Amino acid sequence: MKIFLDTASLKEIREAAALGVVDGITTNPSLLAKESGDPEQILVEICNTVDGPISAEVVATDAEGMVKEGRHLAALHKNIVVKIPCIAEGLKATKVLSGEGKRVNMTLIFSPTQALLAAKAGARYVSPLVGRLDDIATPGMELVADIIEIFDHYDWECEVLAASLRHPMHVLEAAKMGADIGTMPASVFAALLKHPLTDSGLRRFLEDWEKAKALLAAKAGR
Ligand code: G3P
Repeated sequence: MKIFLDTASLKEIREAAALGVVDGITTNPSLLAKESGDPEQILVEICNTVDGPISAEVVATDAEGMVKEGRHLAALHKNIVVKIPCIAEGLKATKVLSGEGKRVNMTLIFSPTQALLAAKAGARYVSPLVGRLDDIATPGMELVADIIEIFDHYDWECEVLAASLRHPMHVLEAAKMGADIGTMPASVFAALLKHPLTDSGLRRFLEDWEKAKALLAAKAGR
């Protein structure tokens, strides 16, 4: 599974990207609004930091406006993927932009049939928002499973991007299901690596090594 970070924070992106396992970034207007600075400059800087798909979302709600904004965003950098909400106007815009060879990430997907239509419109990625379904007592992971099952039957070049992953168990479940991509906040990404037994085990190895060295030095000095 490819690992994407769901953030527009350059600090978080630089720290995580330094580990060498971040494949891409997803942003949205809410995430960009949290950052200070020009959103387009931030997007370009993100693209220069992570050489992978970087989702930038349109804010127009009519097809014509989405296409115009999508073309503008795509022209900012070769890594930009145009993120478009899964509404009727969004499908029309996706059809146009994908026809021009631009990659579209269709977002705000909450049903398998929305994902089906997004793929048919030519979306390169579909983003089911797992945590937001969990928030309303609907199992978000079942949606990811349904979409994977549907896509497995066909030869579409559309990847399942499990989004709104709120904790490491979401990431684990998405990976076990075979989601193509999981996108998560930097805090969840950091939690994937952490294990208390790794920390205590490393501490013990190093302490034992120091003791062995001290013993050798004492013997040599005798
Ligand atoms: O882009 C969608 C994703 O950022 C949503 O995550 O946690 O706000 O539901 P969340």
